[in-house]
Amino acid sequence: MINRPRRLRTGEVLRKAVRETRLSTDSLIQPLFIIEGNNIKKEISSLPGQYHYSPDMVGEGVENALKAGVKSVLLFGLPEHKDEKGTEAYNENGVLQQGIREIKQRYPQMQVITDICMCEYTSHGHCGILEGEKVDNDRTLPYLEKIALSHARAGADIVAPSDMMDGRINALRTALDKNGFTDIPVMSYAVKYASSFYGPFREAAGSTPAFGDRKSYQMDYHNRREAVKEALLDVEEGADILMVKPALAYLDVIKEVREKTKLPLAAYSVSGEYAMIKAAASQGLIDEYGVMCESAVSIFRAGADILITYFAKEISEAIKKGDIG
Ligand code: PBG
Repeated sequence: MINRPRRLRTGEVLRKAVRETRLSTDSLIQPLFIIEGNNIKKEISSLPGQYHYSPDMVGEGVENALKAGVKSVLLFGLPEHKDEKGTEAYNENGVLQQGIREIKQRYPQMQVITDICMCEYTSHGHCGILEGEKVDNDRTLPYLEKIALSHARAGADIVAPSDMMDGRINALRTALDKNGFTDIPVMSYAVKYASSFYGPFREAAGSTPAFGDRKSYQMDYHNRREAVKEALLDVEEGADILMVKPALAYLDVIKEVREKTKLPLAAYSVSGEYAMIKAAASQGLIDEYGVMCESAVSIFRAGADILITYFAKEISEAIKKGDIG
């Protein structure tokens, strides 16, 4: 026998030397939820270990992330008042805008990315303006522009549209440029599937649609070619970073988009992926740390450059310890 693949597995130093996938703490993004009010830090029941912070308290979440080596956060806002048109989403003094200002004032080194969508702000929980029971694509675009501009004015470093309206990347790029925000990148949720893995998030963000589902705007999970189509359209429209979401059940899509495009690629390991690991571990069925590490590496192995995950702090520590990467 000449070929003995096991030779390269005989010791830890050699195993680590021949690793094909390298991870960096620079590639991690921690989502944070900002809720209206004062002096609030409350654990989210559907996402153990994640918190609702009021704007005055969100610094704590940011500080913990920084301490763990995470340099980037993705912000979601939970307004008290919701209406048909999601007006709180573009209120210059809205909950998210307050949170952005608080973070950028106290921790200017933290990169702040904001989710651009309407579902947390609309009374009906859909991601745009309704025409009857349908989300009206073209009437929604100007609202997304207003939201992105208000985030940019509050100090957001990057905007990340997650609404899945057609043409929104071009609309946002044009609006940002016209208003002097030529250097604010757009991270597009280019390939976002209609997924049951968002369940815990919708509970955390209060964004479950009041009727129907999101299948008329988010993608059908039977499709992979369509993912490439969506990604290439966003490249044409001026996206700076592409994203695939969810991650674990879509590793083939991550690989495909990585191969067919040239932009940096983010993957969002969503709330259901996190909650499944937490739930199984809490019952003693799996080793939480081991499964977390293995899952994170698999997403980078598939081709992601950036990982958005509720485990960002823990993965960062695992990288620093040398357990992965
Ligand atoms: C807003 C949005 C959602 C998520 C990110 N942005 C929910 C949805 O589309 O229903 C999901 C994130 C997660 O599950 O962790 N549209």
